[in-house]
Amino acid sequence: MQRKILVTSALPYANGSIHLGHLVEYIQTDIWVRFQKMRGHECHYVCADDAHGTPIMLRAQSEGITPETLIANTQQEHQADFADFNIKFDNFHTTHSDENRALANQIYLSNKAAGHITTRTISQAYDPEKEMFLPDRFIKGTCPKCGVDDQYGDNCEACGATYDPTDLINPVSAVSGATPITKDSEHHFFKLGDFEDDLKKWTRAGHLQKEVSHKLDEWFEGGLRDWDISRDAPYFGFEIPDAPNKYFYVWLDAPIGYLASFKQYCDRTGIDFDDYMKPDSTTEMVHFIGKDIIYFHALFWPATLQGAGFRLPTSIFAHGFLTVDGKKMSKSRGTFIKARTYLDHLNPEYLRYYYAAKLGSGIDDIDLNLEDFQNRINSDLVGKVVNIASRCAGYINKKFDGQLSSSLADATLFEEFTAQADSIADKMENREFGHAMRDIMALADKANQYIDEMKPWTLAKEEGKEQQVHDIYSMGINLFRVLIAYLKPVLPNTVEQAEAFLNIEPLHWRDINNPLLDHTINKFKPLMTRIESDKIEAIQEASKETMVTGQAVEETKSDIEPIADEISFDDFAKIDLRIAKIVNAEHVEGAKKLLKLTLDIGNGEKQVFAGIKSAYAPEDLTGKLTVMVANLAPRKMRFGLSEGMVLAAGPGGKDLFILNPDEGAQPGMRVK
Ligand code: MSP
Ligand code: ZN
Repeated sequence: MQRKILVTSALPYANGSIHLGHLVEYIQTDIWVRFQKMRGHECHYVCADDAHGTPIMLRAQSEGITPETLIANTQQEHQADFADFNIKFDNFHTTHSDENRALANQIYLSNKAAGHITTRTISQAYDPEKEMFLPDRFIKGTCPKCGVDDQYGDNCEACGATYDPTDLINPVSAVSGATPITKDSEHHFFKLGDFEDDLKKWTRAGHLQKEVSHKLDEWFEGGLRDWDISRDAPYFGFEIPDAPNKYFYVWLDAPIGYLASFKQYCDRTGIDFDDYMKPDSTTEMVHFIGKDIIYFHALFWPATLQGAGFRLPTSIFAHGFLTVDGKKMSKSRGTFIKARTYLDHLNPEYLRYYYAAKLGSGIDDIDLNLEDFQNRINSDLVGKVVNIASRCAGYINKKFDGQLSSSLADATLFEEFTAQADSIADKMENREFGHAMRDIMALADKANQYIDEMKPWTLAKEEGKEQQVHDIYSMGINLFRVLIAYLKPVLPNTVEQAEAFLNIEPLHWRDINNPLLDHTINKFKPLMTRIESDKIEAIQEASKETMVTGQAVEETKSDIEPIADEISFDDFAKIDLRIAKIVNAEHVEGAKKLLKLTLDIGNGEKQVFAGIKSAYAPEDLTGKLTVMVANLAPRKMRFGLSEGMVLAAGPGGKDLFILNPDEGAQPGMRVK
């Protein structure tokens, strides 16, 4: 039976780049969707940028642009990253859209009419200078437990204590530096408790993974509290229909963004939106999410849908977090790798395969071990799979003009390959991608063994064995074809090239059993090359580079790294710090953070790309002095050669280290 499935991945925030952690989710979902489509189901994959909230509002302010411009730029970047990883959304929208406003209002007003919304006045921290309420993460102060300064919000990085932001000693607003006051305001709440019984049933009815429903049991024990769904102006979001100056909290309209993106797609393609959304719909709605956002998806989301008379999700599939070389991604180790940095150096399908090989249906974290990654790609994809085709194609092309034999040399072996179609499909369906990849690679081993044992290259030297050799190599090509059919959801681009080589129509699951006989194939071109170590080193190097030249201003508390290993005075003395005059500063096309600086250091000019665009306009810099590392080896960056580094630090804006010229400092002076 043909299923109708709406699939989503969580909506990435519109104020940051896609990194390899995010890609665990988008790649996993894309593989599953491609698999469903290959099986002949009607499957629609939609996503959007999550565009609302305080961080996005403030980020836009600090960059001196409107939130609309910020989210439009980010959306462009995100969509390019996804497309280049062969993640194929049927629609990609934004939560800041007409469709989403209409649906958010509808869902809110229906819940209100049904009595699920209440209001009450609460007191919160307020920044009197910036005139805004402060979310916890925008308040800093001294930890009340251990006395360490500069702790954010409601927990201490140093001692691990959790507390109320109001308990912080000497609290300050991270936005303006002002001391917050406490202020009252009326908030709108969604009465989650109204849905307790239904949610208890729903969360145990097979829509969630086992570990997830156990986790939810703990939350039920703690009791379901009203959910605060409003925020006061200034806020970047949707104003609540009957409440001027109050906005929907970003997490209210974010999941509604799934539906909004689907709505836009339905309007464009004529698919029946209501057929998917009605409570008794026979269609499926499936959400892939990270384990950090289960609460929103498994409690608030079904409750708001039910309260508004919509269908509930069929499945929520949560996954774990990515670690790199066993540790949290880190900028100083060069393992905080952005999608684009990876793409600058390596084929996206390598990562798709590696994640597939590591993914299961549970919520365990997955580790990208860079050495294992390299070995596995080289041995599995290049050494096993692609190798089969390259071993067999030459002879067939040369001696038989690309024509395959008219019968299978070993029908039993072929049958052994195709007989696994159902069990591999089951594993893919159940997101046991790792198991499926293992099964496929075991078959690839078998195919290579077959060729090894048949020794067609020896037979080829014997008289009158031409047909036999032809049959063996044709058999190899047929085994290769079954393997790439299985791998197609994981390696869409490589398999497309392989289909062109085999001169066949796009593979479907149902075709797997039909061998290619009496069929003409094309010339073989290498489908994949080995990963050399320098590529991985280059990615790590480039990931470090974006930090030192660009991202000091972007570091969030969780990214702050311990102080690096101690260096000797001699090491330090090697750094040649010079006063440099900024003779020219200009924008770099296509770079979000970089400015191109021409620096005069007394005995010549140097060009440096510096990640200080968020804090300075080029015209503010020309003529000023700064300090530069003058003896840093030049580095080729995406935008050109950078011949040093300027020292600039601080949270952005006024604290960056740029000097006005005065009599004391001259270009070229050594800084001691
Ligand atoms: N905007 C929210 C989701 C709203 S959905 C209605 C959000 N955005 S996010 O950009 O922080 O994350 C997007 C998805 O990527 C989430 O599912 C999140 O769990 C996942 N991941 C983000 N970092 C990740 C890793 N390091 N590893 C694995 N998944 C990660 O949350
Ligand atoms: Zn503390």
